[in-house]
Amino acid sequence: MSKRVRKAVFPAAGLGTRFLPATKVIPKEMLALVDKPIIQYGVEEAIASGIEHIIIITGRGKGAMEDHFDHSFELDAMLEKRGKRDLLAVSRNAASLARISYARQKEPLGLGHAVLCAKELVGDEPFAVILPDDVIDAQPPCLKQLIGVFEEKGGSVLATMTIEGPGISAYGVLAGSQDRKNPRIYNCTGMVEKPKLEDAPSKQAIIGRYVLSPRVFELLEQTKPGAGGEIQLTDGIKALLKEEKVFGYTFAGKRYDAGDKFGMLQATVEFALKRPEFGERFRSYLKGLNL
Ligand code: UTP
Repeated sequence: MSKRVRKAVFPAAGLGTRFLPATKVIPKEMLALVDKPIIQYGVEEAIASGIEHIIIITGRGKGAMEDHFDHSFELDAMLEKRGKRDLLAVSRNAASLARISYARQKEPLGLGHAVLCAKELVGDEPFAVILPDDVIDAQPPCLKQLIGVFEEKGGSVLATMTIEGPGISAYGVLAGSQDRKNPRIYNCTGMVEKPKLEDAPSKQAIIGRYVLSPRVFELLEQTKPGAGGEIQLTDGIKALLKEEKVFGYTFAGKRYDAGDKFGMLQATVEFALKRPEFGERFRSYLKGLNL
């Protein structure tokens, strides 16, 4: 594999049941973290990592995402008329971030199936996958770190986090060994989905950023549905491992599970504290709470 990573796939067709009732009508990916939909953080990360073409996998009731990344004629005209130049720039910015295409997943048949829906739009080149509900605060951006490893090593790369204790059972976990030269790189020989703590082959948990070889599409097509009738992305990557190199990379930065209520609360507090316009005021407010 030698081609450049130009395209990023955003699976966003899931039902978001953990966030009901908020996600009954509003797509989970459109929930605001401070003042920006969580998917926009991922799109901005992709662009800052050199991605040129964003492919969002959508499903029923997800039209708000397409509207968000488009011009809102009435809103823009009204803001212009009222002389609200700053807000106009914010509104227009979302629409001019990147070239965005959409593919539809007709039924939420799993993450692997959602990625497979991007096959025609990606074509025969390596590509990134960003799970929009994993919001990552990192500099350089997490995806850029993975692309750096991909360019150096020439294989697929999965972002990982080191998890101590029983929390590991919520993740896909890598088997293999740490690279001798770079301890952040993990030479992957296998992976287990959501193992019990005693069965976990390592502490390396897979999170929502990937750089993948296009061969994974053919392998996903051959993957049979697993638990719950879903086609898992990890099953496709497991098949890929038998043919090509796959690496884990312990990215530098902090990841928040914004698809989960508690994770969203953590992200909200920490992102709000970093905002120059009200971070200090918010800090004093938190300090003043009788906790
Ligand atoms: P999740 O399992 O976190 O999302 O999938 P979900 O199913 O929407 O959420 P819960 O568990 O019911 O609350 C990770 C990502 O994969 C997408 C989701 O939209 C989310 O961004 N996904 C998942 C799909 O696009 N299609 C699927 O069939 C499943």
